[in-house]
Amino acid sequence: MLRNSLLYLSNQPRIFRFVRNNRMARGFANRFVAGETLDTAVSAVRKLNDAGMTVSLDLLGESVHNEAEARAAGKEYLAILDRIHAEKLDANVSVKLTAMGLDVSEELCVDVMQRILQRASEYRTFVRLDMESSAYTQKTLDLFEQRLFPAYRESVGVVLQSYLYRTSADVEHMNQIRARVRICKGAYKEPEGVAYPDKKDVDASYVRCMKLLMTKGNYPGIATHDERIIALAKEFARENRILPDKYEFQMLYGVRRDLQDQLIREGYRLRIYVPFGTQWYPYLMRRLAERPANIAFLTGNVVREMIGRRRH
Ligand code: FDA
Repeated sequence: MLRNSLLYLSNQPRIFRFVRNNRMARGFANRFVAGETLDTAVSAVRKLNDAGMTVSLDLLGESVHNEAEARAAGKEYLAILDRIHAEKLDANVSVKLTAMGLDVSEELCVDVMQRILQRASEYRTFVRLDMESSAYTQKTLDLFEQRLFPAYRESVGVVLQSYLYRTSADVEHMNQIRARVRICKGAYKEPEGVAYPDKKDVDASYVRCMKLLMTKGNYPGIATHDERIIALAKEFARENRILPDKYEFQMLYGVRRDLQDQLIREGYRLRIYVPFGTQWYPYLMRRLAERPANIAFLTGNVVREMIGRRRH
C-alpha cells in the first residue's frame, strides 16, 4: 500500500517541483544522489575508486518529450564518457532509453544510442541499458538485440528484473546470445498479470536467474543489497568453482555501505551505481518505496530541523 503510493507519487511532476525546493528533501536526496552536476559526481566516483569500487554513472532523467531534449541528454552522456576517459576513472555509464527519446521515436532513440555506443567503444568502456517499467521491457529488449547489440557486442548490456514472470526465459535467451546482463529485483509498480505480487517469489526468481547467469552468462552484474542472496551467490560460486573475476556485485550509491565495504575487504568485485543530476525526484521516491525505514529517516530529520528552528 505504502509502496504503491510512493511509486504513484514518483510520477507526479508537480510534487517534484515542490519537493525540489524543500531543503530537507534535498538533504535526504544527497544520501542517494551524488549531487546535481558532473563535477560532484566525479568526486564521488574518485572516492569510490579509491576505496576499490568501480562505478556506473547515471545521469538522472526519465522520459523526454521531444527530439531536442533527447539529443541534449545524449550529448550529456558523451560529455560524461569524455570526462571518465580524460580523468581515467574506473567507471562506465547506465542509460534509460526513454531519456534518449524512446517515447518520441524509436529511430531517434537508436540514433542517439549509437552515438553514445560509438564513443563508449572507442574508449573501450561499457553502457548498461537500465530497465524501466514493464511497459518498456519488450521494446527495450528488441531495440537492444536488433539495433544495438549486433554492432556493439562488447560495449552494451541490459538489465532484467526478477519480479517479472518472463525473466527466467529472458535470462536463458541473453545467455544464448552471450549478452551481458545485470539482474535486479525491479523497482516499478507493476500489475499482477506481469509480476510476482509476493516478495518471496521475487526473491526465489532472483536466485534462479542469478544461478543461470553465474553458470552460463557473460560476466553478470548481481545487483542487490539482500544479504541472504549475496551469501547464496558466494556459496554458489565456491561450490561451482566460479572465480570472483567472472561476475560482479552491484549496489546503489548510499545503500548498505557496510555491506559494500565488507565485499571489498573479502576480495569481491563491486560496482556502485552512482546517480546524479537535477532530475532526482522519481529515483528518490523509488528508493523510499523499497524501504519504509527511509521515510522514518526523512521525517525524523524534518522534525529535528523544525525543533532546531524553534530553538534558534
Ligand atoms: P530488497 O528490496 O529485498 O532489500 C534487501 C535489503 O537491502 C533491505 O532489507 C535493506 O537492508 C537494503 N535496502 C534495499 N533498498 C534499500 C534502500 N532504498 N534504502 C536502504 N536500504 C535498502 N531496478 C529496476 O527496475 N531497473 C534497473 O535498471 C535497476 N538498476 C539497478 C542497479 C543496481 C546496481 C541496483 C543495486 C539496483 C537496481 N535497481 C533497478 C533497483 C532494484 O530493482 C531494487 O529495487 C533495489 O535494488 C532493492 O532491492 P534489493 O535487491 O536490494 O532487495
